[in-house]
Amino acid sequence: MAATDTEQGGEYILVLYYSRGGTTARMAVELARGVESAGVAARLRTVPAVSPDTEASLPPVPDAGAPYCTQDDLRHCAGLLLGSPTRFGNMAAPLRYFFDQTSDMWLDGSLAGKPAGAFTSTGSLHGGQETTLVSMMLPLLHHGMVIAGIPYSEAALMHTRSGGTPYGASHWSGGNNGELSEDEITLCRAQGKRIGGLARALSPNTEERL
Ligand SMILES: Cc1cc2nc3c(=O)[nH]c(=O)nc-3n(C[C@H](O)[C@H](O)[C@H](O)COP(=O)(O)O)c2cc1C
Repeated sequence: MAATDTEQGGEYILVLYYSRGGTTARMAVELARGVESAGVAARLRTVPAVSPDTEASLPPVPDAGAPYCTQDDLRHCAGLLLGSPTRFGNMAAPLRYFFDQTSDMWLDGSLAGKPAGAFTSTGSLHGGQETTLVSMMLPLLHHGMVIAGIPYSEAALMHTRSGGTPYGASHWSGGNNGELSEDEITLCRAQGKRIGGLARALSPNTEERL
């Protein structure tokens, strides 16, 4: 299991996701493993479901899985990997709701210049992976983040028969009983490693530069 926190207060990539059925959560763990292979800590966080009246309807700490993301988790990350199930070709509402509360960070530019990428899980192979991934990039662009996908130098992009796109990692949950395919895992890890490496290169705290 990848680290879920950076207790020492060092730099970390926030792997922030929403998952109801667990497949996007499984992807998040593989992305976190990729981040750590770049020598950067990964912080796994999720968001609560939203209720129709938008009042809190869940305990403040989830019963299982990653803790809920705080504004500070996002503000202080060195980079972001954002994961959502596809919902009608778009990002799931709980993640949208979380981002709708980040005006302060937009105003003070906390996220500007930091690398970010998106990942998604769909029920059908052509059910909107790319549209969801691109829709997830929109708020990140408003925040001034540096968007990165997966380059075609990753061989699995060319031969995958399941998920995996140049816009970001993806999983086709209808194709394999919810288990990630070998190519999907490879591409999750590649994307995590890439964002970890970019965070190191872009960090004001390191000698490494692009
Ligand atoms: C309200 C709703 C809308 C969905 N819309 C789509 C869709 O547009 N395309 C698709 O392929 N799958 C769609 N799905 C299926 C989910 O994207 C898919 O089951 C995904 O793997 C769930 O991820 P999770 O296990 O992390 O919750 C939808 C599911 C729900 C509940």
